[in-house]
Amino acid sequence: MIKYIGSKRAVVPLLEGLARRLPIASVCDMFAGTTRVGQAFRRAGCRVVSNDLASYSEAFGHAYIAAGAALDRGRLRRALARLQALPGAPGYVTETFCEQARFFSPANGARIDAIRGAIDEMDADPVMRGCLMTSLIEAADRVDSTCGLQMAYLKQPAPRSLRPLELREPDPVEGPPGIVTRAAANDLARALDGVDCAYLDPPYNQHSYFSNYHAWETITRGDRPESYGVARKRVDCRTTRSPFNSARDSWEALADLIGALRTPWVILSINDEGFHEPAAVAELLGGRGHVAALAMDVPRYVGARIGIHNPAGQRVGAVSHVRATEWLIVCGPDRDAVESAFDDTVVVAGVTPAA
Ligand SMILES: C[S@@+](CC[C@H](N)C(=O)[O-])C[C@H]1O[C@@H](n2cnc3c(N)ncnc32)[C@H](O)[C@@H]1O
Repeated sequence: MIKYIGSKRAVVPLLEGLARRLPIASVCDMFAGTTRVGQAFRRAGCRVVSNDLASYSEAFGHAYIAAGAALDRGRLRRALARLQALPGAPGYVTETFCEQARFFSPANGARIDAIRGAIDEMDADPVMRGCLMTSLIEAADRVDSTCGLQMAYLKQPAPRSLRPLELREPDPVEGPPGIVTRAAANDLARALDGVDCAYLDPPYNQHSYFSNYHAWETITRGDRPESYGVARKRVDCRTTRSPFNSARDSWEALADLIGALRTPWVILSINDEGFHEPAAVAELLGGRGHVAALAMDVPRYVGARIGIHNPAGQRVGAVSHVRATEWLIVCGPDRDAVESAFDDTVVVAGVTPAA
């Protein structure tokens, strides 16, 4: 899976346990990102709707949530082997992200261009295409030269960026296959019917995912947009906004979303670095059912741990803290199930219940 800020890697085992314990058979992961939470729900036996506005998340959803027994994995492996053997063909990615910006080595950029072009030539249904695209984005992520955000690149190429791009088959995920949507969460909430639970992990501060991961969006879309600035961002980064990235609009967007959901159960992730107080969010959820919350102390994202650097790439300061508090809030109609939601919670390495 790609490096992704706000990704719930540390708390996935807790969410999987929660999904097994609650009386739910279907879940909508409304802000799916990498899909790692949706994968946990799937492993717990739930039917998952994987939703996000990002095109790359839609591809991950096809690979990890929708792919099931109907996917011909032999054909997928043969297609990946053919793509892996293609010689580089420098194009938009090489010029924009390797020469104008330096997210990848030019040799890897030329191979990304060749593979991305060849995917469009293949006769592939959405699940097969999602698997090929996921394999390409994950391979590119393993050889990038960033701190995990595509707002800047490292002054000196990261050692991993000198390695050749290697396509791997996306791992199969146990559990029933689900479906994938790409919609604004607030719109989807109004259309969602017959789903037991919604999992909400919205953007929590002003930093836009569309801008932070613009290269994945561009590679997935294959649309060669005009670009600007040192990071060669897509020109529509200037105009694409999520209300959840706005200090002014995000509370209203969250309240609207929670009000529009017809799922009996809601699970929400929130941390202490975002716009909202966990207590205020728990109170908002209290309007629709019984509520329980668990606070966990987790490592902060990699950029924070690497520290503060000047434009010459020299470390000029330390970040103020390297751990954050992550909250899981559960809301549902069954008081006993809510009250015992976090019983027997197994604490995993690096994650401790906060005092
Ligand atoms: C905190 S991240 C989710 C991380 C995810 N849980 C994971 O573990 O990878 C928030 C996600 O919300 C998506 N997003 C932003 N605004 C959205 C909206 N209005 N509707 C749906 N998704 C949105 C972003 O593309 C991003 O992937």
